[in-house]
Amino acid sequence: MCGIVGYIGHQNALPILIDGLKRLEYRGYDSSGIAYKNGKGIEVYKTTGRIKKLEHIVPFPYEHANVGIGHTRWATHGAPSEVNAHPHYIGGVAVVHNGIIENYREIRSKLIAEGETFYSETDTEAVPQLISWNMKRGLSLYESIVESISALRGSFALGILSESDPTTLYAVKKGSPLVIGYGEGEYFFASDIPAILSHTKRFLYLEDGQICALSAKDIDIKYFGQPKQAVPEPSIVEVDWTSAMAEKDGYDHFMLKEIHEQPRAVQDTLNEWNECSEKLIEDLKLTVKKTFGLQRIHIAACGTSYHAAVVGRYVIEELARIPVSVEIASEYRYMQPIIEHDTLFISITQSGETADTLAAQREAKNKEARALTICNVVGSTAARDADLVLYTRAGPEIGVASTKAFTSQMAALCLLAMGLASKRGRLMNGELKILMAQLFKVPELIEKAMKKNAEIKALAETLVETRDILYLGRGVNYPIALEGALKLKEISYIHAEGYPAGEMKHGSIALIDEGMPVVAVAPVNSHFDKILSNIEEVRARGARVIAVTDEPAAVSHKADDVLVVPSTHPLFSPFVTVIPLQLLAYHIAVLKGCDVDRPRNLAKSVTVE
Ligand code: AGP
Repeated sequence: MCGIVGYIGHQNALPILIDGLKRLEYRGYDSSGIAYKNGKGIEVYKTTGRIKKLEHIVPFPYEHANVGIGHTRWATHGAPSEVNAHPHYIGGVAVVHNGIIENYREIRSKLIAEGETFYSETDTEAVPQLISWNMKRGLSLYESIVESISALRGSFALGILSESDPTTLYAVKKGSPLVIGYGEGEYFFASDIPAILSHTKRFLYLEDGQICALSAKDIDIKYFGQPKQAVPEPSIVEVDWTSAMAEKDGYDHFMLKEIHEQPRAVQDTLNEWNECSEKLIEDLKLTVKKTFGLQRIHIAACGTSYHAAVVGRYVIEELARIPVSVEIASEYRYMQPIIEHDTLFISITQSGETADTLAAQREAKNKEARALTICNVVGSTAARDADLVLYTRAGPEIGVASTKAFTSQMAALCLLAMGLASKRGRLMNGELKILMAQLFKVPELIEKAMKKNAEIKALAETLVETRDILYLGRGVNYPIALEGALKLKEISYIHAEGYPAGEMKHGSIALIDEGMPVVAVAPVNSHFDKILSNIEEVRARGARVIAVTDEPAAVSHKADDVLVVPSTHPLFSPFVTVIPLQLLAYHIAVLKGCDVDRPRNLAKSVTVE
């Protein structure tokens, strides 16, 4: 994964790079480093561990540097050691990299045979080695970079700074995300917008295959594989995110802040629909020929976004009666999906940069499907690759554990389901109005659900020592069981499983013994009685039942703990049932002393396969 950042301009690069790296830390935090040009030459500082450690080794007060690059690493090739940390600095060329160079072994062997010495175990080192070798052969810096990157296989976003021309900073993109920030007399690049959001709101997403030469005053973009190919006029996107949105704002963790932002995030996403629904549905009609005879929807996504997709399936099928299949994107991309005439493909992604989701979308498009993406980042790769975009308006999500993006994605899917249902004549005007009114009440209900925080924290205190928790749900709340389990696993490292409650008897009930916590997501709906029976079944085997319900009277005598959520339309119950599960995972992780915003082994955006 990794995060890269770069700066060239009239300000001092060092605080900009360090601050940018702190904001990119969610992408990896095994090691970090910076390279910058001072009056004498290029200085490189790197260390294992967090950016805080890097801050300690960079001499302070910072010396002045107008240009520099930085990196925070999520180790893939080579242990998280200092020598493997980026930037890799070879023969006067410093490189930071996000992605994977697949043919680095071949390059390495070739250059070693030519007499070059390699110092690290990384794939990245092959890049500055190759550039400096090409320069030794007499090519100019630019020619060497182009020659070298054209020889690379894999995915890469690169930042390159060279001793031979420190007035130019190079940014290269193929397969990994990279955004250029436009300032006044200055340019930035970064793996993600929040890294440089406090400096600019104007961004350009580089296209795959582009190399960008940045000076303080100028930007020059070319296709490195096809130097003669004309580069279209850059389409600069202006984001309405503020830098405050990417701050903790008094909360202990981004995750907690983002949990509390959900009423606003869902509301803004609903409002977005008000603005664009007519057009979106019209576009859908044009894009997927005869949309309202639409035969099938395929949805692909990863992780939490996949769970939102499963919620979407229940809602779309129930309201619009269109068959929906939901797949994990890493499976979909290789499963040779059968895409029939009038199939709509939907990708769901917070970042818009998840490698498997992008590949799934490309696979669907290659098979002639029309693609709609539900995405949180304006101008991201998913948004640019899709035929149509429905933006969630969650704002920047920094915590690795996704929360507000999830509820916003569900909001977008509910709206889409209602839009399709109404156009297909499945929802009469009056019914649509009633349903819409209930959906627009959801932000208020989420707010109410969060009021139980103290109770949930007290419950968390009793679960800190737990080794396994089972989460059960049915229907539209089955994916909420999956999501509750994922939240707990990823931030507290407690083993958890989400299961469809009715399937439990076919295997996982064997796990239950005296005192094992079982979270049952049980709001009132048409299969309420069924989940009550499932609760009885696990209780009879000694489980400690924690029920999440809007009908405590029916559940309290069957459960050891009851977390009450507000009532809503059954299809919208996931918006409220997920809240206590997010808070429960959060409090357990905090009580266990885990690093909630930066859980081990994880990165926010998985931009490699
Ligand atoms: C969940 O908390 C995770 N951060 C993860 O599962 C995430 O949802 C997944 O990697 C997909 O990311 P995306 O939405 O940015 O594509």
